[in-house]
Amino acid sequence: MTGSNGSTAVSDQPALPKPEGLEGVVAASTALSHVFGEEGKLVYRGFDIHELAGKASFEEVAYLLWMGQLPTRGELADLLQRLGEQRPLPTQVIDVIRDLPATAAPMDALRTGVSALGASDAGQFDDVPDLDEAISLTAKFPGILAAFFRLRQGLEPVSPRSEHNTAQSYLYQLFGREPEEKHWRPSEVYLTLLADHGMNASTFTARVIASTGSDLCSAITGAVGALKGPLHGGAPSKVLDMLEDIGSAENVDRWLTEALDRGDRLMGFGHRVYKAEDPRAEILRGMAAEASTPDFFELSRRTEERALAMLQERKPDRRLYTNVEFYSAAVLSAVGLPGDMFTPTFAVSRVAGWTAHVLEQMSNNRLIRPQSEFVGPMDKKFVAIEQR
Ligand SMILES: CC(C)(COP(=O)(O)OP(=O)(O)OC[C@H]1O[C@@H](n2cnc3c(N)ncnc32)[C@H](O)[C@@H]1OP(=O)(O)O)[C@@H](O)C(=O)NCCC(=O)NCCS
Repeated sequence: MTGSNGSTAVSDQPALPKPEGLEGVVAASTALSHVFGEEGKLVYRGFDIHELAGKASFEEVAYLLWMGQLPTRGELADLLQRLGEQRPLPTQVIDVIRDLPATAAPMDALRTGVSALGASDAGQFDDVPDLDEAISLTAKFPGILAAFFRLRQGLEPVSPRSEHNTAQSYLYQLFGREPEEKHWRPSEVYLTLLADHGMNASTFTARVIASTGSDLCSAITGAVGALKGPLHGGAPSKVLDMLEDIGSAENVDRWLTEALDRGDRLMGFGHRVYKAEDPRAEILRGMAAEASTPDFFELSRRTEERALAMLQERKPDRRLYTNVEFYSAAVLSAVGLPGDMFTPTFAVSRVAGWTAHVLEQMSNNRLIRPQSEFVGPMDKKFVAIEQR
């Protein structure tokens, strides 16, 4: 084939299937977690998510992901102690966060903080990811976010207390006061639900970076960047924006119709893998019913009901259901978090899964380096700048 500039395009490529967005492509083997999309089922290391939600602590789930089995009492106590010891941030990292503008997005602050941690001379993170580093990074995520959350309000960061668990420590470092049980318990269940989710975009990012032989902070910095996008983890604050914009039950139909007529996507619906309801959405719906105000829950419920009906009517073949983000908005705002801290809170949980995936990748590593189908021109001739 000859182009307008005399170049030829590649025409002798074998006809390969083109899985746009790598849909359906198996990119790695993992024993960590799996999404059974048709059934609407999520499994961590053999445990259905319903088996763990509300029963296992976040630390038990993190241990399960890292070690492949639930901890004994002694192992859990040891992990809690190690997390407690690892929570304080190096001063250099706090200084980097202090220099960020208050207008920065918290996910940008987190990404910067994790990167700064990798460059700090605390000497904890070297080029070979290991369990100690995974624990340390998981312990430090809440502190990085809380430091930024406070500094942007003109408040000083609060030192973590070693007796807190992860959910308690996060809320304590954010708000500077002892968290109430009605806030940290739902936060903890939320953290257990979001800890891992098969070969999602941010996990894949972490594994790709780790596969190059890079360090853990680089892999997790990349993962934070991938999670930030609204098609992945950046949706729940947009769900809150949507619900606040809708405002009341009588506006639901008009608002949704206008959004769909514009071609907008409704945040909190649809999923690449689930073709049934996301099991986490079901659990979070139940939590939202208890944690959020009756008015807000009613508005969420009505919006969900009408959105599902309209999506079914407009895209009958697409099988679009409620995803995890929809009721995350109600649960996280009920525990006192502003919308822009929703995706960062997702990251506080997912760092356990990301680090477990990096360790799994390193246990049997091969560089992840796929092919692309070349569709550009060929055989172009260089023309000197004077003649262009
Ligand atoms: C999650 C998501 C990115 C999955 O995307 P995907 O697998 O690439 O799906 P596609 O982009 O191929 O979408 C398939 C079709 O469903 C439609 N669709 C998917 N999600 C939709 C949504 N939330 N609202 C309206 N339409 C939606 C698309 O417009 C597309 O329709 P078309 O083929 O007629 O153009 C997508 O469902 C989405 O954007 N959801 C909203 C954002 C969100 O909630 N993200 C959090 C995910 S946990």
